[in-house]
Amino acid sequence: MRAAILEQAGQPIVIHDDVDIIEPRAGEVRVAVKYCGICHSDLSQVDGTFIPTEPIILGHEAAGIVESTGPGVNHLEAGDHVVLTPAPPCGLCYYCVRNEPQLCLNTHAVFTNTFADGQTGLSRGGKSILRGLGMAGFAEYVVTQASGAVKIPADVPLEHACVIGCAMQTGVGAVFNTAKVEKGASVLIMGLGGVGMAAVQGARISGATTIIVSDPVASRRELAMRLGATHCVDPHSENLVEQCMLLTEVGVDYAFETAGVAALISDGVNATRSGGTTVCVGAPGLEAKLVIDPAVIFASTEKKLCGCFLGSCNSLYEIPRLIRLYQAGVLDLASMISDVRPLEEINQAMDDMKAAKGVRTVLQI
Ligand SMILES: NC(=O)c1ccc[n+]([C@@H]2O[C@H](COP(=O)([O-])OP(=O)(O)OC[C@H]3O[C@@H](n4cnc5c(N)ncnc54)[C@H](O)[C@@H]3O)[C@@H](O)[C@H]2O)c1
Ligand SMILES: [Zn+2]
Ligand SMILES: [Zn+2]
Repeated sequence: MRAAILEQAGQPIVIHDDVDIIEPRAGEVRVAVKYCGICHSDLSQVDGTFIPTEPIILGHEAAGIVESTGPGVNHLEAGDHVVLTPAPPCGLCYYCVRNEPQLCLNTHAVFTNTFADGQTGLSRGGKSILRGLGMAGFAEYVVTQASGAVKIPADVPLEHACVIGCAMQTGVGAVFNTAKVEKGASVLIMGLGGVGMAAVQGARISGATTIIVSDPVASRRELAMRLGATHCVDPHSENLVEQCMLLTEVGVDYAFETAGVAALISDGVNATRSGGTTVCVGAPGLEAKLVIDPAVIFASTEKKLCGCFLGSCNSLYEIPRLIRLYQAGVLDLASMISDVRPLEEINQAMDDMKAAKGVRTVLQI
């Protein structure tokens, strides 16, 4: 099959036509990928922000059509339209049975870039290739667990649906599931890429009445205002924490770090009210450290700091719910996608993300 391979961080990605992929095994499906969005977590692998692991096929925000099913898969069949998820819940592990499926042991695949058995199912010329971020979606086909491909109605454009896989599950999910934002709440969202824009939409849908956004890029602040933000701040020329205090008197109820800049987590803690919650969604480089005065968090104010993996979603529930919100005209997917490029233009698309051009680029496979 055709696939985009990163041989070495810092080098351009190369498209090859002779990549081998396994047939789906028991409990797996093989999906013909039609569209796959680019997430900053892919870029962090390409530019060496994350630990280099190569050769690797990246891409974890995909939608496509089921091509074949392995033994024991009865709820999907060839021809079904699906959104793929990087975190397929197994339904049986410690985390799944205590209703925290986002922490399912299957999600280790995102960090090991292999299936649970250590295999990747991908090779070229007999040499194994890593299955990037639990999927390897910048390729003609993906093999995944049957719970990793979630059926959607055939009339939903796959070009729009793909961004649900990571950006929308993560950003909307951070608001719905991780923070559980309530009606009338005040919210701060720092960083307005695909994930931050999705969080803005999640906050609007949840009924938050003050939605403050911050990003150095003016066009992104403008789009966020169209998607539901009520106030915007340019962090390079205004004091973010002061603005939050002015607008809310006590500080925001919830702050979301969606830029991947560790220092913003302390801004979030300072901008939240006593008892408020800061949700760490962004993924800074592994050398980044947090500096927070423990007295501020623990002793006097009961502020809370929490992590967030893929919006704490159970993808089997969340993907259909996000599709319903899209069909009802409540969730805007089209505005998230600023560009559609062929797979061959993957390196230009990565450059666009680096330059914060547009919002999400989707690759047509
Ligand atoms: N937790 C998860 O499960 C999960 C899932 C997906 C992505 N991520 C991470 O979330 C982050 C965002 O991903 P994305 O794809 O939306 O990235 P993106 O590159 O599209 O957007 C990041 C945005 O942050 C802005 N930014 C940079 N510095 C800023 C600052 N000081 N203040 C405010 N904004 C600032 C940039 O201008 C840009 O608009 C990345 O770190 C990514 O790796 C985490
Ligand atoms: Zn992602
Ligand atoms: Zn599980």
